[in-house]
Amino acid sequence: MNEINIRRSIRRFTDKPLTDMQIEQLLKAAMQAPSAGNAQTWEFVVVKNKNTFLKIMNIHPYATPLQTADTAIVVCGNTRRERYDGFWVQDCSAAIQNLLLKAVSLNLGAVWLGIHPIQERVDALSALLELPKDIIPLGIVAVGHPAEGYENQYIDRFHPEYIHNEKWSK
Ligand SMILES: Cc1cc2nc3c(=O)[nH]c(=O)nc-3n(C[C@H](O)[C@H](O)[C@H](O)COP(=O)(O)O)c2cc1C
Repeated sequence: MNEINIRRSIRRFTDKPLTDMQIEQLLKAAMQAPSAGNAQTWEFVVVKNKNTFLKIMNIHPYATPLQTADTAIVVCGNTRRERYDGFWVQDCSAAIQNLLLKAVSLNLGAVWLGIHPIQERVDALSALLELPKDIIPLGIVAVGHPAEGYENQYIDRFHPEYIHNEKWSK
C-alpha cells in the first residue's frame, strides 16, 4: 500500500543513469501482471537514444518528460499472442501499473505517456520503432532518478460516491 499511496507521476529527472539491473527489475515487475487467459500479451521496447526521444516528443505533445528521462520503456501489445480478442489493452495496462509501482520501490521516478488509442501516435511511433503490424504501442513509461520528490505528495482520492452497491440506483 505504501507504493500505491505515494506513487505520483514524476516528470523531471536528474542526470544519473539507470543501471541495467534496475531496468530488468522494472521489466520483471511488469511481466508479473495478470493477463486475460494468462496470455502475457506484452512486449517492451527499451529506448535510451536521446535522438529517438526527440522524435517521440515531435509525435507526442505531452511527452516532455522525455527531455530529462534516462530511459523510455514502450509497452506494446502483441495481438497475435492474445487468447481473448481485445484484452491486450488491459493486460498491458496492468503491466504498466506494476512497472510504475516498482519504480517507486526502487526510488526511481516514472510517468505513463499515453499512445493508444490515438491513432496518429500509434502510427508514428510504430514507424519510428519499426514495429511489426501486430505489435501496437499502448504507452511509454519515461523513467529516471527523480528530480522532484514523492514526499508529502499523498492525495486521498477515495470518493464514496463512486461506489454503487448491488445496482446503480442504490
Ligand atoms: C492512460 C494514461 C495516459 C497518460 N498520458 C500522459 C501523458 O501523455 N503525459 C503526461 O505527462 N502524463 C500522462 N499521464 C499521467 C497522468 O497525467 C497522471 O497519472 C494523472 O495526472 C494523476 O497524477 P499522478 O500520476 O501523479 O497520480 C497518463 C496517465 C495515464 C493512466
